[in-house]
Amino acid sequence: MGNVTILVGAQWGDEGKGKWIDILASQKDIVARYQGGNNAGHTLYVDGEKVVLHQIPSGIFQNKAVALTAGVVVNPSELVAEIEKVKPYCQLTSKSLWLSARAHVITPWHIYLDGKREKESDSPIGTTKRGIGPTYAEKSNRTGIRLGHYVNQSSLDQWIQMMKKQNPEFEQHFTDHKTEWETFHSSAKLLAPFVCDAEAALRKQVHSGKKLLLEGAQGALLDIDHGTYPFVTSSPTAAGGAIAGIGLAPKYIENIIGVAKAYLTRVGEGPFPTELFDKDGEMMAKNGHEFGATTGRPRRCGWLDAVALKYCSDVSGMDGIILNKLDILSGFDEIKIATHYQHETLGEIHEFPWDHQILSQCKPVYKSIEGWSETISEGITTYEELPSAAKTYVKTVEELVKTPITYVGNGVNRSDALNRT
Ligand code: GDP
Ligand code: IMO
Ligand code: MG
Repeated sequence: MGNVTILVGAQWGDEGKGKWIDILASQKDIVARYQGGNNAGHTLYVDGEKVVLHQIPSGIFQNKAVALTAGVVVNPSELVAEIEKVKPYCQLTSKSLWLSARAHVITPWHIYLDGKREKESDSPIGTTKRGIGPTYAEKSNRTGIRLGHYVNQSSLDQWIQMMKKQNPEFEQHFTDHKTEWETFHSSAKLLAPFVCDAEAALRKQVHSGKKLLLEGAQGALLDIDHGTYPFVTSSPTAAGGAIAGIGLAPKYIENIIGVAKAYLTRVGEGPFPTELFDKDGEMMAKNGHEFGATTGRPRRCGWLDAVALKYCSDVSGMDGIILNKLDILSGFDEIKIATHYQHETLGEIHEFPWDHQILSQCKPVYKSIEGWSETISEGITTYEELPSAAKTYVKTVEELVKTPITYVGNGVNRSDALNRT
């Protein structure tokens, strides 16, 4: 009975979810985001042109209806700007873009709080400073503002009055940042036509047999509960988050797909056992253009960590993994994969530790695989055509992670997708 597919990031984000959502959306009817906000940066290429989406789901270029659901946090003015940005490619209407009235709103206040906390903290997280954490905290505190109320002038005024009463610092911010608050206010009428009961609409579609693709943001290692806490984002990024964020029964889930890079990157702070500080790391960063799609920060690079990837596959119940950006590993004499960790007092570790401090003390133990020198991004259209060393690498990852590798990514375009099934 399932007709819903979930696609999740299987590492610390930026695995290439945008490209794969765009590819898979061609077979689906609707694409919906279930968590996160404009901390995400999903890159895709439309007719050779690069487009980065932060809030709008990456299915729009396949002319699919798209939705932002209850679990998402929305930055209104940034969303208005994004709707404008994609206009040359597609005109979004209330029929093609559904914004959940239940989604919580990121306000200038929350962005301010995010920046302040990062600046003042002894141990900053390295957030994207988009106000994500404070907005989710407000939601959990039951003092947030939802999109359905934001687009209603009197409800919004009421919320602002309530916040002013509760917190003099808020009142000061409201007075000092007039322009930001004005832009915030003026975006409401522009978004109002799109705001609806998106969850009810999605359930109706699913019940009538329509195919739904759920677009995860960030990656499973950034999950608020299952990630490397506190160096995580503030939403449930693993597949389970999709159920809560959309209000959909688990029985409708047909397929869970993870996207992983053939190596590993991380933006921001937090433990990263296989991180490289040598020429290999520099080569990954250079060849992989590893700069954040949202903040432009350099991404930390390292070898694939099979302990972490298997953990993410287990937590999300991945039916298959897409091993993306394999082309970036061309030219390495030797390629390494962490099979387990060594810890000074705890000895050999095979399970991903729950404690970020223990993880930071883990030394990766590697299996080495022979590299390949051939470029694989151009002229290769089937998996079989890959150099045998590249195929050995894919097979080794699959064996270690105990999850089928269903596709391999070998370039930025839609066509750079090698089917392995
Ligand atoms: P997302 O956040 O998971 O959607 O990923 P990002 O867009 O932040 O980062 C992925 C980057 O890798 C983007 O610049 C993509 O254009 C690029 N990319 C995606 N797939 C491939 C691939 O198979 N090979 C190469 N070389 N680049 C890719
Ligand atoms: P996509 O969807 C990579 C990271 C930040 C920081 C931590 C918390 O493009 O894969 P936040 O602003 O969410 O409070 O920051 O999470 N982070 C991401 N890293 N890709 C992302 O999204 C990310 N979104 C947040 O760098 O370490
Ligand atoms: Mg990204």
